[in-house]
Amino acid sequence: MIDKAVEYIKSKVDFVPEVAIILGSGLGNLTDGIENPIYVDYKDIENFPRSTAPGHIGRFVFGTLLGKKVVCMQGRFHFYEGYSMQQVVLPVRVLRKLGVEKLIVTNAAGGINTAFVPGDIMMITDHINFMGTNVLIGKNDDMLGPRFPDMSFAYNPDLRETARKCARELGIDIKEGVYLGCTGPSYETPAEIKAFRILGADAVGMSTVPEVIAANHCGMKVLAFSLITNMAAGILKQKLTEEEVLETGAKKGRELQKLIAKIIWEM
Ligand code: HPA
Repeated sequence: MIDKAVEYIKSKVDFVPEVAIILGSGLGNLTDGIENPIYVDYKDIENFPRSTAPGHIGRFVFGTLLGKKVVCMQGRFHFYEGYSMQQVVLPVRVLRKLGVEKLIVTNAAGGINTAFVPGDIMMITDHINFMGTNVLIGKNDDMLGPRFPDMSFAYNPDLRETARKCARELGIDIKEGVYLGCTGPSYETPAEIKAFRILGADAVGMSTVPEVIAANHCGMKVLAFSLITNMAAGILKQKLTEEEVLETGAKKGRELQKLIAKIIWEM
C-alpha cells in the first residue's frame, strides 16, 4: 500500500520535499503561501483512506514555501472516524518513503493547563498516549523501523529550539506542554480532565499521537504544535462545541502559519 501510493505521487511530483506539515482542524489555510502547488487528492490514491472530519479537505499540497520544497497534508485521518491505526499513519509512512525527513504536526486541542487561554499556541514537548492502543502493535516491518523505537526525544529538541527562536523573533508568545491523546469522538468529561491534569497533561486532543509514534518509528524528526481552541471540559463551566473549536482555529491559525513558515525558512 505504501509503495503504490509513493509510485502514484512520484508520477505527479518531481521533487522530494524537505519537510511535511500535517494541518489540523481549521488550520488548512496554512497552504495559502505555497507557490506552484501540485494537489494530490487522497481519493485519487489507490487504497488511501478518505478524510471525513469537518474542516478537513483531503489532499496533499506539494510546492515551495519561502524557497523550500514542502508538502502539506490538508486533512488527516482520525482513529475516531473508524480508520485503523495503520490507515491513520499511512500518509506519514508514504511521505517518509518518498524521502521526507522532517515532520511538523499541528492540531486543535483543549487546554487543560489553566494558565492557557483559547487562541494560545502550545509547542508540544512530549505526549501521553491515552488512546488505549499503539499504532505499532502487530508484526514489525523492519524496513520501516525497529520493533521497540525510543520515544525519549519524540519531539525533536533541536527543532524545538529553532521554534523558540523563531517565535521570539516574530514576537509570538508560545506556550509549551504535554499533549494527551484520546480517541474521541466524545469530548472528555470534567472528571477526565481533572485526572489528566494530575497525570501531567497540558492539552488534550484526538490526533497526533499515532502520527508522531509512526514518524519516530521510521526515523523522522518531529515538531508539533497545538492550537488551544477551547478550555477543556469543566474548566469554564460551559459546554464545548465544535463551532468554538473551528472558529478559534480559523482566527488564530494565521499566527501559527507565520511561525511555521519562519521555522521552515530557518530549518
Ligand atoms: N478535547 C479533545 N479534543 C479537542 C478539544 C478538546 O477539548 N478541542 C479541540 N480538540
